[in-house]
Amino acid sequence: MLGAIFDSAVDGIIVIDANGRLEAFNPAAERLFGYRESEVIGRNVSMLMPSPYRDEHDGYIGRYLETGEARIIGVGREVHALRRDGTTFPVHLAVGEMTVDGERKFTGIVHDLSARVRMEEQLREQAALVRLGEMAAVIAHEIKNPLAGIRGAVQVIGSRLASGSREASVTDEIVARIDALNALIRDLLLFARPPQPRPALVEVLSVVATTIDLLRDDPTVAGVDIELEGTSPPVLADPELLKIVFQNLLINSAEAMHGRGRIRIVAGTTGAGCEVRFLDSGPGIPAEIRDKVFAPFFTTKARGTGLGLATARRLIEAHRGFIRIDVPPGGGTAITVHLPLAGAGTAV
Ligand SMILES: Nc1ncnc2c1ncn2[C@@H]1O[C@H](COP(=O)(O)OP(=O)(O)O)[C@@H](O)[C@H]1O
Ligand SMILES: [Mg+2]
Repeated sequence: MLGAIFDSAVDGIIVIDANGRLEAFNPAAERLFGYRESEVIGRNVSMLMPSPYRDEHDGYIGRYLETGEARIIGVGREVHALRRDGTTFPVHLAVGEMTVDGERKFTGIVHDLSARVRMEEQLREQAALVRLGEMAAVIAHEIKNPLAGIRGAVQVIGSRLASGSREASVTDEIVARIDALNALIRDLLLFARPPQPRPALVEVLSVVATTIDLLRDDPTVAGVDIELEGTSPPVLADPELLKIVFQNLLINSAEAMHGRGRIRIVAGTTGAGCEVRFLDSGPGIPAEIRDKVFAPFFTTKARGTGLGLATARRLIEAHRGFIRIDVPPGGGTAITVHLPLAGAGTAV
């Protein structure tokens, strides 16, 4: 009976002796830590802890045995644990003490907190986004109007200067900088306070085609060859928001290729979704930054805002879809947008 409890417990159960040597390691502990029981028996329990706890653990037991002062025994605490593959994960550790045949031993119950910690992180992120949205709205309101006034005034001054003069080029530069500021405010507001999707039945590939048409005059994209392939099933989505997503992806690709090269856009149906892949012939996204590029304000560009992919992800997730980076074998970057099919029980 006791053995069955040990084997079937959902939480990890670990027994150590007074020297910290492992004496028992149940199947749940094997799953959590990635070691087999036979691999850990006899070794020091500190192998399951990341530094600095790792090096201090012997000291903890020693002090407890000497002074009887318990820090974790009988209480339980949240700590970090170390898996075989070197990754760490949050756990609640409760330690009990027992005496078997006159020898003191300690039993640790290890409860995995990864899911809870992840959820708390998501909640914190959501709260931060709401605050950012409020801030962006205030900034937009307080800055946009005076900026429009300054822009108008500078244009009036510029119109009185001899065209082609050094002074006129200065006022042109001021206007261009003001336009960039306005674009930043618009992008910030879009990321921090995206509009609620207004879904309609749309053909994704034709939304892509419209976006390409809209970008025709954009000098970043003008020299790029864009090919559309495949067919897309109808999805329930907001075409205006999809255009923003596709525009961000196309501009990123064009910028990565310095305005020359090819973008292939391939659409298709997979499972319960419509998938559109944007494949470019640029340098690709280096592995070490791949998991950062969706973070707001992450950019490798001198004048980037780092909001393009973050906004794209937010807008696609508002449609219950997802967006991911793939590394195509032939080089370049592939960004895949997945949207649920209309009628898949996932109306926005
Ligand atoms: N198609 C791409 N090829 C190479 N790198 C890319 C591509 N798309 C995005 N990136 C990288 O991701 C970063 C973040 O992109 P984004 O969020 O659009 O912000 P921004 O374009 O303002 O830098 C870029 O600075 C760039 O390093
Ligand atoms: Mg961008």
